[in-house]
Amino acid sequence: MLARRKFISQAAKAAIITAAGPAATLLAHAASGSADAKLPDSYRGVSGSRSLKAHAHRHGLVYGSAVIVRVLENDLEYAELIAEQCGIVVPSNELKWVALRPAPDKYDFTRPDFLLRFAKSHKMLMRGHTLCWHASVPAWIKTPENAARTRQFFVDHITTVCRHYAGKLQSWDVVNEAIQPSDGEPGGLRKSFWYQQMGPDYIDLAFRTARAADPHAKLTYNDYGVEYDNDEEAERRRRILDMLRGMKQRGVPIDAVGIQSHIKAAQPYTFGKGLADYMDAIQQMGLEIYLTELDVNEDDIASNDLAERDAIIARTYSDYLHVALANPAVKLVLTWDISDRFTWLNNGPTHRRKQPNRPQRSLPFDRDYRPKPAFLAIRESFDHRSVT
Ligand code: XIL
Repeated sequence: MLARRKFISQAAKAAIITAAGPAATLLAHAASGSADAKLPDSYRGVSGSRSLKAHAHRHGLVYGSAVIVRVLENDLEYAELIAEQCGIVVPSNELKWVALRPAPDKYDFTRPDFLLRFAKSHKMLMRGHTLCWHASVPAWIKTPENAARTRQFFVDHITTVCRHYAGKLQSWDVVNEAIQPSDGEPGGLRKSFWYQQMGPDYIDLAFRTARAADPHAKLTYNDYGVEYDNDEEAERRRRILDMLRGMKQRGVPIDAVGIQSHIKAAQPYTFGKGLADYMDAIQQMGLEIYLTELDVNEDDIASNDLAERDAIIARTYSDYLHVALANPAVKLVLTWDISDRFTWLNNGPTHRRKQPNRPQRSLPFDRDYRPKPAFLAIRESFDHRSVT
């Protein structure tokens, strides 16, 4: 507890600790005892050797979470929860182009650097996410004269960012979500800005550039929509594996594959052979596997009963992890944030949600940082893992 507060002050956040108001309340709360004090009996013991990180570690895994850095900077209780539960962190948005490159000649490393110092001071690892994503392309690069220089901007960006963190990150999501078979392009490649400007070679280029700038980070290809036994996801898996095989044949430096793991409760489809075979194929290529963005979208649960919803969400985690953790190549499990307060599934316009008036309870801790059945389901899934 002390060390955590010390870190926040060291990181030039003294104002948080000395300020009256919400920060003072937080401190008083933190000083009132361990997080366990406010929990029902069945949840006593979620810290130390009973944390997600400790259980993961005993089964050859590192558990962690995506973090919104602005929240971490201001919310001591959240910072404590992250430090208590996580062996690895990844910034949710702060390393994406739009956040990092406000202008062609400007890089803003402030927030990801803060997270790195936080991680280091708590002996946590950190991942980088992401050097290339179709959904984070700054407006300035789309002007005709800049777009004509996309390749140069791309190489400069990856070189600068990877050099800035060289030797300090466990892994990088070098390319995120490059496959979209419905776009109708050769190889099932997504018709993204990057693809349209540079052609299919941008993927190899990204990995080679990243390796040259940081020889230590595990270079990862990350994608979604590969978890279920259905035809659409089978096609996505097939396209990704073809792409990976091509990269291996061309000697492209790649070390790992990220399975985002944005799964859904109350689905007609199962987790099974499709996922297991996909993971086997990746393992046989000599690559590690990371579950990078695990969470459960619960929009399709009909019941409004909290306990019932929580039980279905927990079972969804168990069913998924039962299959996913069976593969020994899996080394990391990260949830996409740790508390329902910050799940991205509650962001954005409510009309896009099937349950607009019902905030999602997708993550292991609720919005008041209390563990839920999902926490126990994840922890038990780590314990059931037979590979170490
Ligand atoms: C999401 C963030 O959580 C949101 O805050 C942001 O508005 C959009 O991006 N797949 C990814 C992540 O690879 O980068 C996305 O993160 C979630 C889906």
